[in-house]
Amino acid sequence: MTGRLIVVSNRIPTDEVPSGGLVVAMHEALSDQGGTWIGAHPDPASEPTDALERLPAQGYDKRAFRVTEEERQTYYLGYANSVLWPLCHRRVDLIALESDYAEGYLAVNARVARQVARLAGPEDLIWVQDYHFFPLAAELRRLGCHARIGLFLHIPFPVASDLAALPERDAFPHWLSAYDLLGLQTQADVARCLELFRSLPDAEMFIDGKVKHGPRLFAVAAFPIGIDAEGMAAAARVGGGREMVKLAPDEDLVIGVDRLDYSKGLPNRLRAFGQVLEHTELGARRPHLIQIAPASRGDVPAYQRIRAELDAIASEVNGRHADLGWTPIQYINRSYPRETLARLFRAARIGLVTPLADGMNLVAKEFVAAQDPADPGVLVLSRTAGAAERLREALLVNPFDTDDIARAIEAGLAMPLEERKARHAALRAEVFERDIAAWRSDYLRALSSIAVAPALG
Ligand code: G6P
Repeated sequence: MTGRLIVVSNRIPTDEVPSGGLVVAMHEALSDQGGTWIGAHPDPASEPTDALERLPAQGYDKRAFRVTEEERQTYYLGYANSVLWPLCHRRVDLIALESDYAEGYLAVNARVARQVARLAGPEDLIWVQDYHFFPLAAELRRLGCHARIGLFLHIPFPVASDLAALPERDAFPHWLSAYDLLGLQTQADVARCLELFRSLPDAEMFIDGKVKHGPRLFAVAAFPIGIDAEGMAAAARVGGGREMVKLAPDEDLVIGVDRLDYSKGLPNRLRAFGQVLEHTELGARRPHLIQIAPASRGDVPAYQRIRAELDAIASEVNGRHADLGWTPIQYINRSYPRETLARLFRAARIGLVTPLADGMNLVAKEFVAAQDPADPGVLVLSRTAGAAERLREALLVNPFDTDDIARAIEAGLAMPLEERKARHAALRAEVFERDIAAWRSDYLRALSSIAVAPALG
């Protein structure tokens, strides 16, 4: 690879050890080959400034831009998380449009573009992460930047017809085509992206997957993100998960770990678990669900509503089924280090990953990597998660259908060892082969092989 790597994402880790899918992935990419990571400082600025601040280095250079409190409302909570997030997760009903959201989003993108343009030479690779920065490449091109710029979208690509709900629907394809490489999670995402461009009179498709839009030629491809599978497996081998949560000998652990988000399908999951308790002949063993759901984006009303709904469902199911010595659902709104989760995953008989829509879902892969191959747990996975495109040996469910989820939980609890081993071996091979290192090198190889000077004129 020639030139330096410059990564731009909204989230940037400020602690010593980063956690969370996107930040862990980028930390590993940069630790390996160096470069600069630019992200939003967690503390707001009193007024907008073009200067980047250096954060303590971690084997690579880290710099932060600051947004004002008003921009946090319009760019982050507003346009990114109350417009683009529900749009991409097929919840157009939850889109909240306010007149200043797009303005704040574009202003932050224009400012970050100026900051990046000052750093980037023509040989550098600029790797932009996620929906917070759709217009960043267009802004950089306006500033005369000819470096190769790639976007990786961690969340689903929106359905073309849903884009009608976006006031900036005409600008959206121009934002995308200013990139040289659009990396998406799955083949289904690529198909949705191509469908959008196919509908435009000034776009043309080529057989090699490239798209010409106006004067721009760019590539679209799937790069399914992976995890540090070896690291997860090693952390899980420490063991002791059952003791950590004080499970009784007759209890089977069922686990879910998700950010508290309406896209994660948590109400249906808890209801399905309630159905299992209600209808199943449970015999001598009892299932115990630990649902870890750290709250996020709590200032957005849709997140406040889902939190209240989950509080109510969890206490309803517990109220119905608990007795003096037993509470079936342990519902926890805080986050835990990866090492703790790894040990819990290994102790679990079932991993529940049932989002209504999800770009990939790395918890599904972490659960698989953490299992003991000689006595593995069962992954129950939503058909609508990006991970389901390749993890076909999971118990695949329709996350809108609580009966289907309940049946899968029952099947998982009853599954014989030989079937668990066979399914897990296939899942494990996929998770270890397409790990985070493979994702990073596949993407960067594709981006660096694109010729500089992308304009067709
Ligand atoms: C998803 C997004 C990331 C985001 C993360 C946490 O995984 O794809 O871009 O960083 O959620 O959300 P937050 O708003 O807390 O950064």
